[in-house]
Amino acid sequence: MKDMEEYKKYWEDRSARQGELTVGHNSWNNEEFIAKQKEWINRFEPYWATLKRDGNTLDFGCGSGRLTKHLPGKVYGLDMTKNLIDIAKENDPDSNYIHYDGKTLPFEDEYFDSVWTCTVLQHIVLPEHFVEITKQLGRKVKKGGKLLMFENAALIPNKIHITFRNLNEYQNAFRDFEIELINTYVEVHEPHNLMIGTKIK
Ligand SMILES: C[S@@+](CC[C@H](N)C(=O)[O-])C[C@H]1O[C@@H](n2cnc3c(N)ncnc32)[C@H](O)[C@@H]1O
Repeated sequence: MKDMEEYKKYWEDRSARQGELTVGHNSWNNEEFIAKQKEWINRFEPYWATLKRDGNTLDFGCGSGRLTKHLPGKVYGLDMTKNLIDIAKENDPDSNYIHYDGKTLPFEDEYFDSVWTCTVLQHIVLPEHFVEITKQLGRKVKKGGKLLMFENAALIPNKIHITFRNLNEYQNAFRDFEIELINTYVEVHEPHNLMIGTKIK
C-alpha cells in the first residue's frame, strides 16, 4: 500500500463486505472462523492470565472485539476501522471501545499495565508508520508492564496488506522491552509468533 488513505480504505472496504469475518483469515468461512476463535481463546488464555488483573489493559487493533472481552483488567479496545468498532460496541456495550485515526494513540504515556495485540502490527505495512506506532505503543506501557503480541512471521514475500516480521524485528521496534518468543503456531501454512515483552526502561 502506498499511503495511509489506501491503507485505511482497505480495512473499511473489507469490513463493509465481511463484517465480523474481517478479523479472521480471508479464506475462513463462518464455521472455520468460529472454530478458530475457540481454538485461539484456549491457546491464549494461559498467557492472558499472566497479565495484571486490576490494571489497565489495551487491546490494540481490537477489531470487532472478539478477543477483547476475554482480557483481564480494565480493558480498552482501540481500532482505526469504524465499522469494526461499531460491531464491537453493539456486541459488548459495557466495554470501552474507541475508534481513532490509526496514527495518534489517544492515551497518556504509561497508562497501561498490559498491551495485547493480535495480528495487527503485521498489517502496519508502511515502514514509517510501523516505526511511529510501535514507538507510541511502547510509551503507553508502564515500566514493568507487559506487551503480548501474536503476529505473522512467514518467510515469504510481503503481501499488499501484510508485512512479515521476525522476532528480531519486533525486538528492534520495542527497544525499551525485553521481548522473548513464547511459541510459534502455524496458521494457514504460515508461522505466527506469540511474543511477550516486559518494559525495562
Ligand atoms: C486481522 S484484524 C485482527 C483484529 C483483532 N485483533 C482480532 O484478532 O480479532 C486486524 C485489525 O487491525 C486493525 N488495524 C490495522 N491498522 C491499525 C492501526 N494503525 N491502529 C489500530 N488498528 C489497526 C484493523 O482495523 C483490524 O481490525
